[in-house]
Amino acid sequence: MIHFYHVTKKFDRYSTALHDVTFQIEKGEFVFVTGPSGAGKSTLLKLILRQMMPTEGQVIVNGRNLNAMRRGQVPYFRREIGMVFQDFKLIERMTVFENLSFILTVLGVAPKEHKKKAYSALRAVSLHHKMNSYPLQLSGGEQQRVAIARALINDPLVLIADEPTGNLDPDLSNDIVQIFNEANLRGSTILLATHDRDLIRSSGRRVLSLVQGRLSDEKIAAPEPIAARGGESLFVNWS
Ligand SMILES: Nc1ncnc2c1ncn2[C@@H]1O[C@H](COP(=O)(O)OP(=O)(O)OP(=O)(O)O)[C@@H](O)[C@H]1O
Ligand SMILES: [Mg+2]
Repeated sequence: MIHFYHVTKKFDRYSTALHDVTFQIEKGEFVFVTGPSGAGKSTLLKLILRQMMPTEGQVIVNGRNLNAMRRGQVPYFRREIGMVFQDFKLIERMTVFENLSFILTVLGVAPKEHKKKAYSALRAVSLHHKMNSYPLQLSGGEQQRVAIARALINDPLVLIADEPTGNLDPDLSNDIVQIFNEANLRGSTILLATHDRDLIRSSGRRVLSLVQGRLSDEKIAAPEPIAARGGESLFVNWS
């Protein structure tokens, strides 16, 4: 589903954000990307969205080689991808509902479907009572949850999230991961960048760990046995 093949991203002669990164994420996986500030997490996600191109190497997403993709195809390609940005990117002059409706229009969903889809996406993040609020009338955590509802609204093939729990307390962070788990069960492949080691540890998911732009073999302590968490089928693959 997502394949990086010897990807290097340099911004200038002195700064290499990613260095010879190779990995593969299969359809239906839920993978964390972690690493210290500046390690290259956001850069990796931006390459998947084709917000930037690699300096060397290939990025393949959903069977498409992004290096070879023509500019005109990019908006169509992005419709398959839900994105939660580090800084939310909600439109401040639009209400919560209008923000969601705007995205549904971009995705080609008929206007008569918008109310129902917006309501159920907001319900999933427990914000259905805030449909008519403006982003600045919401707390940081609430804005973040609206951004998540927006990214998930049309069950994207791939969901990319950059620090989606950055503004949330631990309980809410776990709730958010649960929302991503549910999207994953509905079929979305998920890649989630975070500093939050507790979140990663308790999830039991595969981790890509970046250190100064390189994939590292560092292991995050294994989670408690799967049986103790109610027998969910989660894969643990510390590659
Ligand atoms: N547009 C840019 N121009 C020049 N350098 C950049 C640019 N974007 C990122 N970098 C550099 O690339 C490196 C990786 O940045 P990136 O944003 O991917 O890190 P990150 O792991 O997401 O960090 P954080 O946890 O702080 O969000 C950093 O050294 C950063 O300064
Ligand atoms: Mg970042």
